[in-house]
Amino acid sequence: MYNHKKYIPYSIAFLYIISIYNLIAPYLFTLYAGEQDKLFWDKRYETEAYIFGKEPVEFLREHIDILPGGKALDIAMGEGRNAVFLAKNGFDVDGCDISETAIKKAQELAKENSVNINAFVADLETYKLPENTYDVIACFYYLQRDLIPQIKQALKPGGMIIYETYTIENWERGLEGPKNKDYLLKSNELLNFFRDLKIIYYRELVLNNKKAVASLIAKK
Ligand SMILES: C[S@@+](CC[C@H](N)C(=O)[O-])C[C@H]1O[C@@H](n2cnc3c(N)ncnc32)[C@H](O)[C@@H]1O
Repeated sequence: MYNHKKYIPYSIAFLYIISIYNLIAPYLFTLYAGEQDKLFWDKRYETEAYIFGKEPVEFLREHIDILPGGKALDIAMGEGRNAVFLAKNGFDVDGCDISETAIKKAQELAKENSVNINAFVADLETYKLPENTYDVIACFYYLQRDLIPQIKQALKPGGMIIYETYTIENWERGLEGPKNKDYLLKSNELLNFFRDLKIIYYRELVLNNKKAVASLIAKK
């Protein structure tokens, strides 16, 4: 005969397990995705050559003079081409990346250029940017949409964000670069992210027939 009393504890235990799973699953998934990203990028950087070169992104070089001096953060800095350029231009530079190999190469590049940078490993999916800390935040060829509010908070009042990365047009034109649309900006998306700041510069274009990008400078 069906004894409902016997099943009540099982049902409670089952509901308990489900709610614990719901609580920790997103966290476990983020950790797993972070580990996959780290393995992927460590492998890409495991070569003596600097896969993105040692020279900064042209957009940074062209606009270095309009950035306020002081403390800068290079988000997902890779092998340090932009962080080292900022340091050579007198900035006190923090730079982070998920790849330990990239961080080591960035430190070597800084040494080669006789500058110091504070380069550290961080998974930006979980790392929290310190608030009101930076005069400049640089983000090149990295897109994590839920990081945008943190970037704004991490800027000091009067601080500037300088950002450039691929747009969807890059994929549409079959140009080299990410294929996953999560990593590609829609038209005007970068502009809209920072509309509550003062937009100093915005463009969307195809650079040298090689890559379709959006570039932005905005001031808090
Ligand atoms: C296309 S590279 C750009 C590197 C650099 N900004 C540059 O322009 O040379 C993207 C970078 O994002 C880093 N990255 C990917 N996922 C990350 C994460 N969750 N946290 C921190 N860095 C991450 C990679 O290790 C890689 O260095």
